[in-house]
Formats: sequence, structure tokens, C-alpha cells
Amino acid sequence: MSSRLKDKWVLITGASSGFGAAAARTFGGAGARLLLGARRVDRLKAVAEEAQQMGSPVAHVHALDVSNTRSVEEFLQWTRGHTDRLDVLINNAGGALGIDSVATGKDEDWETMMQTNVLGVLRVTRSALPLLTSNPGSVILNVGSIAGHVAYEGGAAYCAAKAGELQITRALRLELNGTGVRVGTLDPGLAETEFSVVRFKGDRARAAKVYEGVEPLTADDIAEALLWMASRPAHVNIDEMIIKCTDQAAIHKVNRRPKA
Ligand SMILES: NC(=O)c1ccc[n+]([C@@H]2O[C@H](COP(=O)([O-])OP(=O)(O)OC[C@H]3O[C@@H](n4cnc5c(N)ncnc54)[C@H](OP(=O)(O)O)[C@@H]3O)[C@@H](O)[C@H]2O)c1
Repeated sequence: MSSRLKDKWVLITGASSGFGAAAARTFGGAGARLLLGARRVDRLKAVAEEAQQMGSPVAHVHALDVSNTRSVEEFLQWTRGHTDRLDVLINNAGGALGIDSVATGKDEDWETMMQTNVLGVLRVTRSALPLLTSNPGSVILNVGSIAGHVAYEGGAAYCAAKAGELQITRALRLELNGTGVRVGTLDPGLAETEFSVVRFKGDRARAAKVYEGVEPLTADDIAEALLWMASRPAHVNIDEMIIKCTDQAAIHKVNRRPKA
């Protein structure tokens, strides 16, 4: 299946850690050519090296801040310096900040979540679209969350942002109907990445508690799912995929094993 990705051009946002970094390695292993963006370029360079060791013929990196239109446009200009077509766009950059109720929420956290998870997807997609619509069979994969489907206390802004991502995915699929460009969303549950460390602003002990007694998804689980979605034949569109660890039956129903 993954031979369909050999030499294909794959652009991944948020490739410096977690799902994005794992996707770079996995798509690299399938022989894809990679264009990787995030704010931490040193981390991107290390990921690109790993992806090339896995089999990627080329892995280019460039600074990208999806919350800034100028940065996104500059990134896509750099992209066009490498290729005039994209086969896969993975809008993955994003995350949560804080777990405050609406009553105690912080403007800066809300604004960052909307800027990255919602406006970032819109900006990157708008700039990348000409490279996709000129290449029927290409695919846009957005990384959403189960938080976009079910609300939880302390998640108002993040749930709203990921619900926004889901609706952007659906609207785009309608807008692109007839172009041959496919559009899908992959919506994971609990997965152990830097997500919770970022959410709790560096408090690693608090972040570790999120996964205590649970066997969460790994970044590689998500990367494999993205690879599968991207490698379906051109007439197959995977619209929406929800993926959760077996221990998580629902956002509020997680099986936690007592400490041994
Ligand atoms: N882990 C989970 O449990 C989980 C579950 C469902 C959905 N998700 C979603 O999955 C996606 C990836 O998260 P992850 O779990 O892999 O977390 P992660 O390890 O914290 O990775 C987040 C990535 O997003 C990038 N990023 C954040 N803000 C950015 C910005 N303004 N511009 C460019 N890149 C930015 C980060 O890079 P830099 O900091 O270097 O810019 C990093 O590469 C996010 O959209 C998240 O909401 C995660």
C-alpha cells in the first residue's frame, strides 16, 4: 500500500514532535519526499535526518508558525521552490493550552488555540491549495481530536477549536468536490506525545498523570493511520476516522490500572 507514496511530495505541519515527527519518519519509510514545518527548526532537522535514514529520498525543513499569515505564505513560497505539486498535505500543527473552565479561562490561551488549530489549518490550506488542485488524487489530512466531537469540562476552547477543524474539513470537501482532491480528518483520543506537557505549560508531573495506569496511543499509531488514509487509491476518500486506545471507551470513561 505504501508503495503508492514512493517519491510523493508530503508536507507536514508540526513535524518537530509527536504525531508530526512520527508521520515524517513513517512517510519517509514509505519513500515519500518530505517538506517539514514547525517553529523549532533544530528539532525539525533531527526529524528530517531520521526520516532520511528510514528511506526518504529528500526531507527539507523550514520554519513555520501557522498562527502567522506571513510565515505561512513564506513557507509555501519555499515549498514552491522545491515542487510545483503536493501529493499529501498533513495539517497537524496545534494543541491545547490549559484546562481552565470558561469562568477562569485566559485570553492568551484561547487565542493561541484558535490561531493554531483553526486559523492555522485555514491559512496553510489556502496557501497550499494551488499545489493540490493542480494534482487530482492528492489528499489533505487534518488532525482533529475526539475533543471536536464530545465536550469536556475545562476543554471549552480546545473542543471548540477541534470542532472548528472538523467543520473546516467538511466544508473543504464540499468546495473541492470535482477537483479530485481528497479531504479527511483523523481524530485521535488519548495519545502520549508532548501534548500534555504543552497543555500544562511544562509541568511534566501533571502531564504524566494524564497517562497514569493507561496504555495510551503512541505517535506511531497515529502516523500509521495517516499513512493508510493517504495511501488509498485516488477514488477512495477516508472522510473521518476516530482512533482511541482500547483503555479509552469515551472521553470520560478511561480504564486505569492501579499502580503495581
Ligand atoms: N496527543 C494527543 O492526545 C492528541 C489527541 C488528539 C489530537 N491531538 C492533536 O494532534 C496534533 C499534534 O499534537 P501532538 O500530540 O503530536 O503534540 P506535540 O507533541 O505537542 O506536537 C505539536 C506540534 O505542533 C507544532 N506547533 C504548535 N504550534 C505551532 C505553530 N504555531 N506553528 C507551527 N507548528 C506549531 C509543534 O511544533 P513547534 O512547537 O516546534 O512549533 C509540534 O511539532 C495537534 O493538532 C493536537 O491538537 C493530540
